[in-house]
Amino acid sequence: MSRAAKPSNLLDTRVIYCGDNLDQLKKLPDACVDLVYIDPPFNSNRNYEVFWGETKEMRSFEDRHESTQAYIDFMQPRCVELARVLKKTGSFYYHCDWHASHYVKVMLDRVLGESNFVNEVIWKRQSAHSDAKQGSKHLGRVHDTLLLYSGGGGFYFKHLYRPYEEDYLKNFYKHVEAKTGRRYRLGDLTAPGGASPSKGNCSAPL
Ligand SMILES: C[S@@+](CC[C@H](N)C(=O)[O-])C[C@H]1O[C@@H](n2cnc3c(N)ncnc32)[C@H](O)[C@@H]1O
Repeated sequence: MSRAAKPSNLLDTRVIYCGDNLDQLKKLPDACVDLVYIDPPFNSNRNYEVFWGETKEMRSFEDRHESTQAYIDFMQPRCVELARVLKKTGSFYYHCDWHASHYVKVMLDRVLGESNFVNEVIWKRQSAHSDAKQGSKHLGRVHDTLLLYSGGGGFYFKHLYRPYEEDYLKNFYKHVEAKTGRRYRLGDLTAPGGASPSKGNCSAPL
């Protein structure tokens, strides 16, 4: 019995490729990946070392670059490869922070297309730092930045909903409708302005 030929862009997901991603990505066919999420070095001007797990294996990586441009020059060819393997319907997340996020955005606009930029997600990691008491001359640096791009055509995106936790309901939905017992909160009535594609509120695929 003859077996159907494997489509050339089907990826064997049982394999973990180890090594520099620039070399490893070259082994993958075009448009074979639904989701790229990278948490690469941030251009933090630090080198990192941790003793990992029970065996205390030392793991390290370097995040010192001559300049921000040198960091971008390191990341750009890797992003070009990632863009190549990403499906048109896929999503690309680049996790970074204030050290280089603005330069990364400009680089990714070139690589993935400015019009494929979907969201800047702010991940607030901490509340205020007490750096000021230690003499800092800046406001708290308390968030990471995730830049989301679509693969460029028929982008798949699904809003996820799950029930609120009981504590959240008690704290934020303090009012109860007498007749029905339904909880509610008071809020303003500002709407996002309709489903205009130009406002990014269109439910149709981008
Ligand atoms: C900010 S850390 C992310 C760690 C990981 N997300 C975690 O939570 O444990 C950056 C990671 O990128 C890896 N890395 C740096 N350069 C790389 C390269 N050229 N190819 C593949 N991985 C690389 C480092 O080894 C390090 O593990």
